[in-house]
Amino acid sequence: MPHVELFRITGGARLVGDVPVSGAKNSVLKLMAAALLAEGRTVLTHTPQILDVAIMGEVLRRLGCAVTIADGAITIDCPARPGSEADYDLVRRMRAAICVLGPLLARTGAAKVALPGGDAIGSRGLDMHIAGLTRLGAEVTSEHGFVMARGTSLHGATVWLDFPSVGATEQILMASVLAKGTTVIDNAAREPEIIDICTMLTSMGARIGGAGSSTIEVEGVEELEPVQHRPVADRIVAGTWAIGAVMTRGDVTVRGADWRHLEITLDKLVTAGAAVEPLLGSLGFRVAMEQRPRAIDMVTLPYPGFPTDLLPMAIALASVADGASMVTENVFDARFMFVNELTRLGADVRTDGHHAVIRGRERLSGAPVRATDIRAGAGLVLAALCADGVSEVSDVSHIDRGYPSFVDHLRGLGAEIARVDVPDPDFPLGF
Ligand code: EPU
Repeated sequence: MPHVELFRITGGARLVGDVPVSGAKNSVLKLMAAALLAEGRTVLTHTPQILDVAIMGEVLRRLGCAVTIADGAITIDCPARPGSEADYDLVRRMRAAICVLGPLLARTGAAKVALPGGDAIGSRGLDMHIAGLTRLGAEVTSEHGFVMARGTSLHGATVWLDFPSVGATEQILMASVLAKGTTVIDNAAREPEIIDICTMLTSMGARIGGAGSSTIEVEGVEELEPVQHRPVADRIVAGTWAIGAVMTRGDVTVRGADWRHLEITLDKLVTAGAAVEPLLGSLGFRVAMEQRPRAIDMVTLPYPGFPTDLLPMAIALASVADGASMVTENVFDARFMFVNELTRLGADVRTDGHHAVIRGRERLSGAPVRATDIRAGAGLVLAALCADGVSEVSDVSHIDRGYPSFVDHLRGLGAEIARVDVPDPDFPLGF
């Protein structure tokens, strides 16, 4: 009989102790794609051991790279002539695979990548990616479920983004570094992960100005060299542990992550009643909470706003806070989908359009729930830690996509959580 994995959690424990944070998923995946821009060996260190990294490794292997993922390092040997096609079987498993389009186009003059489609958090268009590449002189078409880009002589151009899209900014950056002349990306995303990719591209020989601001300027160069690079730490993983500490009235030291990348989030936690202090002499911060958190309102926005990727954890926090909170989502159109699962744990959440009103409860109550995406999964686990009795979170492969050693880290902090293998409940039904 087929088996599935789930997390079994007994609520009630406080999270106490130290937790290390490795490189950011949302940086590492793009840095792996950036390796396509140079022939030879790229090495990324301090990388997370997660499913998405393994999938991106497979995408690169099918493009002709030799990829080794071991001991927190990713080694990518990119050939002189990489392939140009990424299939649906991989792209549908991980939307970020679309980011190979720009570097492949820049390097080989042609790229064909399966359209990823929408997912559990929203519709997720590619219009800005396509408009940007077209401005650089590529011919971009979409047929039979693939997006195809061709262009052997990309040239600099000014690209105005309708929205500071992380993916579109990275896509255009990676296509423009080898284009002839100057590219300006206006209304660019300002996330730390954007600064990270600009830092790596610059050490590869690219000429980039304005990283971290709304206007990025790229002066195209002939060729790039492979490098060794340490990615920025994962602020979303760090933020998850911080919110978990507050929800469980715990005391957690998050090591390796830069608190300045979480300024609004940590400020909200202070408003909720937490004590937050940066570590002295090393990267990291400590979050301690003694009483029940106060209700707080949160509004997601592109960086430096409150991150949409912490929205499920913010709603989980509001569910156990003292009072009513309003949480507004401005980035994805279906991020509230997971709320139905959270209400199974007893949370009182009402949504209307992109607003949610949450009336906090002293305790939630354990129940079986299903993770619908990476962050929803993490939010449900945090809620389960504050629930009476036992909860089971299924579809944990979502959580494995983005959180390295999730169960081990939580156990290290004192949570009662185990990964268990159970017979597939759908199997007897024959589906
Ligand atoms: N959008 C368009 N057209 C485009 C591009 C984006 O309409 O051409 C829309 C999207 O549909 C969305 C909004 O713009 O409504 C923002 O999308 P953005 O491009 O900024 O997001 P992304 O690059 O697809 C990355 C992260 C997400 C994170 C967002 C926002 C990766 C692999 N993913 O997605 O992370 O939520 O930025 O910060 O970097 C996650 O890690 O769980 C995750 C979803």
